[in-house]
Amino acid sequence: MKRLMTLTLLAAFTLFAVNSAQAGAECPQPRKTKAAPSNIAGKDETDKADAANGKMLYEKTAKPMACKNCHGDKGDGAGKLGAALKPTPRNFACAETMKDISAGQMFHVIKHGSAGTGMAPHGKTLKDNEIWDVVKYIRSTWVR
Ligand code: HEC
Repeated sequence: MKRLMTLTLLAAFTLFAVNSAQAGAECPQPRKTKAAPSNIAGKDETDKADAANGKMLYEKTAKPMACKNCHGDKGDGAGKLGAALKPTPRNFACAETMKDISAGQMFHVIKHGSAGTGMAPHGKTLKDNEIWDVVKYIRSTWVR
């Protein structure tokens, strides 16, 4: 009896772990985010940007909160706080979703936020060049 209970608990836990591992990494990801104005969507200043500084911002220093809390260590949208959000944070590692998202689109949403979602505007806490740094870090690390 005790053994059966242990097995049942183990099975339940395994199912839970598998489910939560997949939850953040949904791919393709449904996306209703507003398009950036075309003059911004077509912009790309990642050439001169600093990916190492982008990594710092993503993992630690961005205000109001480091990006990884929601977008996850692996950029897959599975960060601790992200799971509670609807819509869920963007999964940068999902090529099928990211193929339509330009560097300029990312810049626009980081700066102005995505209204009605957990994605806050960062235009007051990050300078434009810092936003390009984090865009470069994300694109060079996860976007394929
Ligand atoms: C509190 C959680 C949270 C934090 C912190 C956060 N994001 Fe997001 N982010 C989201 C959510 C939720 C979405 C999905 C918005 C939507 O569906 O329109 C999102 C979407 C995005 C997108 C997708 C834009 C698009 O057009 O699809 C980018 C790029 C992005 N975030 C970058 C960042 C960066 C860079 C940071 C750190 C400076 C950051 N986010 C911090 C929750 C967060």
